[in-house]
Parts: sequence; C-alpha cells; structure tokens
Amino acid sequence: MKKYKYPLIYPRIYRSDKKEGIKVIESGQITMSKITKDFEKRFARYIGSKYAVMVNSGSSANLLATAASCNPLRKKKLNIGDEVLIPGICWSTSLWPLVQYGLKPIFVDVDVDTLNMNIDDLKKKISNKTKVIFCVHVLGNSSNMNEIKKIVKEKNLILIEDTCESLGSNFNKKKLGSFGDFGTYSFYYSHQISSGEGGMVVCNSKDDYEILLALRAHGWSRDGSKHKYYKKRYPKLDERFIFINLGYNLRPLEIQAAIARNQLKQINNFKINRKYNRDKIISLFQKKYKKNSFLSFVENSKHVDCNWFGLPILINNKFKHKKKMIIKEIENLGVETRPIISGNFLNQPAIKLLKLNDKKIKLKYSQEVDDRGFFIGINTQKSSLKILNYVAESLGKAFIKVCN
Ligand SMILES: Cc1ncc(COP(=O)(O)O)c(C=O)c1O
Repeated sequence: MKKYKYPLIYPRIYRSDKKEGIKVIESGQITMSKITKDFEKRFARYIGSKYAVMVNSGSSANLLATAASCNPLRKKKLNIGDEVLIPGICWSTSLWPLVQYGLKPIFVDVDVDTLNMNIDDLKKKISNKTKVIFCVHVLGNSSNMNEIKKIVKEKNLILIEDTCESLGSNFNKKKLGSFGDFGTYSFYYSHQISSGEGGMVVCNSKDDYEILLALRAHGWSRDGSKHKYYKKRYPKLDERFIFINLGYNLRPLEIQAAIARNQLKQINNFKINRKYNRDKIISLFQKKYKKNSFLSFVENSKHVDCNWFGLPILINNKFKHKKKMIIKEIENLGVETRPIISGNFLNQPAIKLLKLNDKKIKLKYSQEVDDRGFFIGINTQKSSLKILNYVAESLGKAFIKVCN
C-alpha cells in the first residue's frame, strides 16, 4: 500500500479505544451483548431518534433500512417496481439494496455547489409510482431538509437518509439522519467516528424497530419485545428459535460497539478538530495563492452545520480536462485524494449490467461534479500547522505545475 505524507485519515483508534476493546476481549463476551445495547441507546439519544440498531457496516445499515421498508409486517410497505428517488452522486451500497429488493431507482441530479440532491430535479422526477426519497448526505453536507420533508409529507413518501458520511451534521440544529423513517450511519475507518467497521440504523417507530431487530439477526423473535407473545402463541417451538420474519446476520461484534461507543463520547471534539483542520487548509491556501483561479472549496449548504467528512474541492471549469494530471500531481506530493463518493454513478459498469439506465438519462450536474470534483481527508485530531501548510502548498504546487 502507498504510504502518504497526508493520508485520508491518520490511524485513529486511540489509547482509550484500545483499552475498551481489550476489556471486551478479556471479558470473553465478544459477540453482541450489553455494550452494543448501551451504545445503541446513547447513539439514539445523540441523534435525537427514538431507536437505534447497530450492524456490522454502513452497507448493512442501508440493506436493513431498505429490507424493513419492504417488509410484510410494515403497514406502509414498498412493493416490487416502486420508484425510489436517489441522487446520481451516491455510494454503491446506497443503491444495491434497492435493486436487490426489486425497487426501481430513479436518479436525481445534484447541485454542484452543495454536492447534494437538487430539489427542482427531485420534484421533476416524482411520478405516481414514487414511494421513497433516498437521500445521500454527501461528505457532511446535505440538501434543504425542510423542502424534502415537505415533499415527503405532501406525497406520503418514505424517507431514508443515508447519513454514512455525515454523522454529527445538523440541518437547522437537527441531526441529519433523524428527519426520515430511517437514518443510516457507517463507522468505517475514515468516518466521523470509527470502530474499523460498523454501522447503525435509527428510526422513530417502535414497529420499525421491532422489524429491524428481527431482520438483523436471522429473523428470530428473541431480540424483540414481542418474544413473550410468540412463546405463548407457539408453545411447541423451542423458545430460543422462533422465526417470525425474514432475516440476515448483520450483527456487530461487541468490540466494535465498545470502540464506537468510546469514540461517540469524543465526537464533538472530533468535529471541532475536523473543522479547524479544514478551515486552516483553506485559509493557508487562500493566503498563499491570492489570485487563485484554479479551484474552489465546497462550502456547507444554507442551514447546515457540517461535521465534515473531508475537504471537497472543485477544479475550475477551464482546467477540468486536466483533472487526472492534477490528481496525479497531488498524490505524487503525498496527499491522498478520493473522488466525490464515486462520481456520477451512472458511469459505473454495473449500471449497464443491471440495466438501470435504459432511458439513457443524463445528469448534467452530477457529471460536472464527476469532472471537476475530488476531496482530501481531514483528521479527527488537530493537525500541525506544518502539515496543514504542506497540504495547502501541495494543492497550489500541483495546480501550478499542471495548469500554468
Ligand atoms: C454514502 C455511503 N453510504 C454507504 C457506505 C457504506 O458504508 P460501509 O463502508 O460502512 O459499508 C458508504 C461508505 O463509505 C458511503 O459513503
């Protein structure tokens, strides 16, 4: 693996996280147990949702939220062929559960300056088959959630928020992920908090919570509050193995919960540090390259207080054809880069394989984000001025070398 001077994120399992992890190993209770439950409670409180269910990844969280939305136990349930509005800038496992459940993704364009779903295009793409808005909050930022909530209410839709990149961001002081029927989160290593791998689904309905619990673990009843009822109703069954629903095994390890719980305690500090690092790189760059005509930094949308995942950057239009060379130069200087999620997802070969764009729609602005955008990491601890200056200068140097 390439060693970067400024990687996407520095190793971020800290001493106190290690202690919590070791305690779990020494206890012998490695599989999901009390710490997971406790972490779920704290997480729900932090988000401002009633319930939280921990899983082994953000991808599993999206799978679980989609599976629950389609579940026969749900009153307002999705059916095969129902249309789901999803942004063109999304992650693969935002999309795949929809396809796996026979739903029809309808791709919505984004705003270049926010990277998130464009509300006008969203409105245009609503049909009488639309049943879900599946937001993907990109890199800590979001669309206008008031507008989205208004549409959801008017059209009686389900709202799922893939918040895997935006834990701790607020829209109008309310946490992203808490606006919809389900909010999903990832604790993968570069995310706002991390347990290496891990994820969470939040919801406000007790019925949804019960469905999530069964689907997370084999479809059995024993994690839910209706277990007693099922025991009575099916006295001939072994009470430990009463299967009431479909199911997967998406459970996290107790060690993941212990580490993520410890990181959640520090999330406000992480957020401050991330913001400090981001703002410093920008101000150092702007001071040094006063007449910069190369790039712009993506700012938070109106009303959004971002817990930034990274520092998204847009190459100015006249240099966008040089993007590959610019990225190569930045990477050569030891600064790790990433595309904006996966760029315009319609360009991915799997879209063709799965025939997800038969009408050959084009997403002008998702393509523009793809053509012009990339991001660099920001760390959860305050970085030294020396390294932040190095990053700012590397950006400048790379652009000057390629574009001048
Ligand atoms: C928007 C989005 N959704 C879902 C995921 C999947 O999360 P995980 O890697 O924990 O499976 C990611 C991963 O980074 C993501 O960026």
